Amino acid sequence: MAEKARVAILISGRGSNMAALVYAAKAGDCPYEIVLVASNDPAAPGLALAEAEAIATCAHPHKGLTREAHDQIMHDAIVRSGAEYVVLAGYMRILSDGFVQKWADRMVNIHPSLLPKYKGLDTYQRALDAGDRVAGCSVHLVTPQLDDGPILAQTEVAILPGDDADSLASRILIAEHQLYPATLARYVTREADPEWILDQVRKRALALEETHERESFGSPGWRVGSEKTGKYFAYFTQKLHGEASVGLLVKTSGLDEQAALIDADPELYYAPKFYGKSGWIAIRLDLGRTDWDHIADWLAKSWRLVAPKRLTRMIDIADQF
Ligand code: GRF
Repeated sequence: MAEKARVAILISGRGSNMAALVYAAKAGDCPYEIVLVASNDPAAPGLALAEAEAIATCAHPHKGLTREAHDQIMHDAIVRSGAEYVVLAGYMRILSDGFVQKWADRMVNIHPSLLPKYKGLDTYQRALDAGDRVAGCSVHLVTPQLDDGPILAQTEVAILPGDDADSLASRILIAEHQLYPATLARYVTREADPEWILDQVRKRALALEETHERESFGSPGWRVGSEKTGKYFAYFTQKLHGEASVGLLVKTSGLDEQAALIDADPELYYAPKFYGKSGWIAIRLDLGRTDWDHIADWLAKSWRLVAPKRLTRMIDIADQF
């Protein structure tokens, strides 16, 4: 199994979600390990549990510090722990924009409502007062706006007749303890998920001028030009049992360039079976080291080789200077 992703958890209190993550991480096939539990409250009960489980802890009160200064202390502790991801689990602090930016796409939170409903506090009572039939919990990426980032997963929890805020909260908490470890596992392994990889390619291919997607022999491909006369400049390949599982096919200037690339990096490049003779090259996207800017460059280069003159004329002129 690939190396485990290193995770720091931030808490302020009870830490039951933290406990759920800690115990999930004990499974041999869990793709993450907990390397730090940090708190702004030295008395947070969750810290004692983390210590008992031999996980490094760090507590630093925020009293008397600016938000930025306190966030910086937490940030430094997280970096020292070697964590690549930050998981908020009942961390009752509004985070500074600077901290959020440093952990963009690598910080998640759990919130006890079906977002975008009921951001902030008092979510259970608000769901009851609204007469909702279902409540639930959401795991989302953290962005500067409170409880507002892209939602990764949700669990619906039925509201029962006679529920009050406490009874509803305790049932939602059971759902949280299931949802958080599973969602985190999926998130930290997303780069190996062919659907995620395809999305990365798609958004870069479609960002090029006059491109559209069309399937070719069951694989997504991207063409430049009109729907009628467009030409393919890239294909996505996914072979489940073949040697290479996920790759991108783009055009090179010809067989010489194709051979030179394979020679220079035989792990990254290979000649695709059905297109190889025409100078197409396949680039592996499943090695865990994909440089997405490099892929964007490849897509642009391949696009340019087949795009109609009226689209490339300006670029050709610019190139002469
Ligand atoms: C949970 O309800 C969570 O949804 C919210 O804060 C609470 C934390 O509980 N963000 P615990 O400390 O994990 O037990």
